[in-house]
Amino acid sequence: MNRAISVSLALAAILFGTIQLIPYRVHNPPVEQEPQWDSAETEALARRACFDCHSNEVIVPWYGRVAPSAWLVRRHVDEGRHALNFSEMHRPQHEAHEAGEEVLEGEMPPLYYLAMHRGARLNPEETAALVAGLDATLGSSTEDEGAGSRPVGGDGRARADSDSDSDSDSDSDSDSDSQPD
Ligand code: HEC
Repeated sequence: MNRAISVSLALAAILFGTIQLIPYRVHNPPVEQEPQWDSAETEALARRACFDCHSNEVIVPWYGRVAPSAWLVRRHVDEGRHALNFSEMHRPQHEAHEAGEEVLEGEMPPLYYLAMHRGARLNPEETAALVAGLDATLGSSTEDEGAGSRPVGGDGRARADSDSDSDSDSDSDSDSDSQPD
């Protein structure tokens, strides 16, 4: 009996030791290009609430260094970076314009993360500031067309009157095929 217990403990220890050798952990590649934040506050809030899954500056907790929990952390970070990576804005970030909405709807940051990271919890004012800041920095999902990097000035509202950008984007008035071949 006692012997059976010690044997199982020894096996468990060996197994635990062995899985540590599997090199599936979070790594931080170099930061390539950050967004042009609309304000230092937006950046600070995003760093606090989003960067642990959506950047190359992930702060890995102790359980992210030990298998098997490290594998879960790695997977979440992989998926998070795949959806949006604030450190790689030189690549297309197709979901970026949804960031504000995700926060507004309480989808991001995920609850399981907030449960373990009190510092990432935002009060209502901070949440509102982050939503507005993300919309201003990355574009908003409500203004469909400009998906992605639409530079917007200052206070989070696109200024409708400043189209110095020659071709005014045709909304949805379709069929006039004025397209020269
Ligand atoms: C604990 C990790 C984690 C944190 C922290 C986190 N996210 Fe995410 N995020 C994910 C994962 C995983 C996905 C992809 C899977 C999914 O959609 O749930 C994702 C997806 C997204 C998407 C793509 C939309 C979608 O539904 O796929 C956006 C935009 C996003 N996150 C924004 C944010 C913002 C903004 C913050 C900070 C306020 C944040 N996330 C914080 C893990 C995280």
